[in-house]
Amino acid sequence: MTSTNGTLVRVSVETKGFHTPAEESDRVTASLCTCSSSAMKMNEDTLLEGKRVVLVPYSAEHVPRYHEWMTSPDLQKLTASEPLTLEDEYSMQSSWREDSDKCTFIVLDKQRWEDPLMQEQECMVGDVNIFLTDPSDPSLAELEIMIAEPSYRGKGLGKEVTHMMMCYGVDRLGVRKFEAKVGLDNKVSIAMFKKFNFHELSVSDIFQEVTLELTVDETLRKQLQGDMSLMKEREYRKARDSRQLTGH
Ligand SMILES: CC(C)(COP(=O)(O)OP(=O)(O)OC[C@H]1O[C@@H](n2cnc3c(N)ncnc32)[C@H](O)[C@@H]1OP(=O)(O)O)[C@@H](O)C(=O)NCCC(=O)NCCS
Repeated sequence: MTSTNGTLVRVSVETKGFHTPAEESDRVTASLCTCSSSAMKMNEDTLLEGKRVVLVPYSAEHVPRYHEWMTSPDLQKLTASEPLTLEDEYSMQSSWREDSDKCTFIVLDKQRWEDPLMQEQECMVGDVNIFLTDPSDPSLAELEIMIAEPSYRGKGLGKEVTHMMMCYGVDRLGVRKFEAKVGLDNKVSIAMFKKFNFHELSVSDIFQEVTLELTVDETLRKQLQGDMSLMKEREYRKARDSRQLTGH
């Protein structure tokens, strides 16, 4: 999502797929009108607890930190995002929360999050998103991930988060094909998706990006669905309220 998000994913997705403001505006309108599926609101009260990360729905309290991240020229380049004002970022977060074709999570450092004295915003390390990009094929999803905090990169979190999101996408959203659009210079991200057996579908010289694709066959579907048991799923609001009570 990346816009100031709308989570990294947002901006980046919108920017990547719809490169002019007019096209982006059409895209936003189109996505707001795609109300046939409520799948993407499915995660609005979902918390996924992994080994080293916790995924929570992107909400207003995450916006200031997200906005701060996206002022980084490096992250803007890596995620093909354009900076937004803080106000626009709040609007984006709110519209994304309502969109039926987007599923966005904020990635938290689990160790920090386990300390109830730590504000959730202080635990944020990145975001991960799924977008249903084809209204005629809800089993096709674009996957985006950003480990925004540089000190957290290269430690396996990207792989863990991508795996969790693939499990969730396949098991809960019925995804059967993933795509990832990555800048041609972003060797780390390309290498990571290839570790998951994504292969190159196409290269855009104009946008300087590669589209990677992974078809979920029956074997992979069963494996990813089985791996759902590696994470704990909880009600986000209850978990958040209980942390706040313990911490004060
Ligand atoms: C791309 C990104 C999500 C990867 O997450 P990460 O936590 O840094 O990566 P991981 O430690 O999980 O490593 C995943 C794989 O990436 C590759 N990788 C990681 N660090 C690397 C490095 N410094 N050099 C080359 N490859 C690297 C490896 O293939 C690695 O797998 P391996 O450890 O089995 O060899 C993260 O670096 C990131 O968000 N960067 C900035 C934003 C971005 O580029 N987002 C993607 C936009 S499409």
